[in-house]
Amino acid sequence: MKKNNIILIGFMGTGKSSVGISLASALSMKFLDTDNEIEKCCQMTISELFQSKGEEAFRFMETNLLLKYQETLNQTVISTGGGMPLRAENASLLREIGYVIFLKTSKEVTYQRLKHDTTRPLLQCEDPLGAIEQMLKIRVPIYEALADMVLETEDKSVDRIVQEILLMQKNINAREY
Ligand code: S3P
Repeated sequence: MKKNNIILIGFMGTGKSSVGISLASALSMKFLDTDNEIEKCCQMTISELFQSKGEEAFRFMETNLLLKYQETLNQTVISTGGGMPLRAENASLLREIGYVIFLKTSKEVTYQRLKHDTTRPLLQCEDPLGAIEQMLKIRVPIYEALADMVLETEDKSVDRIVQEILLMQKNINAREY
């Protein structure tokens, strides 16, 4: 089956959820946020989940969610947790489920956005900027290898990012058909 979902990947704080909501509305598609789905299902926040069950358990839940989506999802924009593509199994499921867009932001912009955030357990440490830098080093090549489209977001507005995605998609469709 040709994939007819759109998947947003990228580091924490890149705007995957806000862009996803707006993109879904522009394309009259449904919207899902994987973190929200896991939180609903466990009746816990991501922080509580990391604390009580650990990161590994959370990663299994992400994979289980993708296995479910592989069977059921249609015409949906999906915003993913920043660590979801790290497991090779998840990366290939994501590729099967939809067209993958990587929202790319520098470490400085990410830090500025997240320095007061308390909801990302992986950044509640002494040196969040260092942690961001380390994670980006590992993750960016993984995000780039997985993505069908890479979009630099930096401090662009949500509307502008959505417009750029729509324009790039139009160009791709024009080339393909
Ligand atoms: C994570 C990103 C978070 C959330 C969890 C782990 C990560 O999602 O899934 O805190 O490993 O990058 P966002 O990317 O939506 O912040």
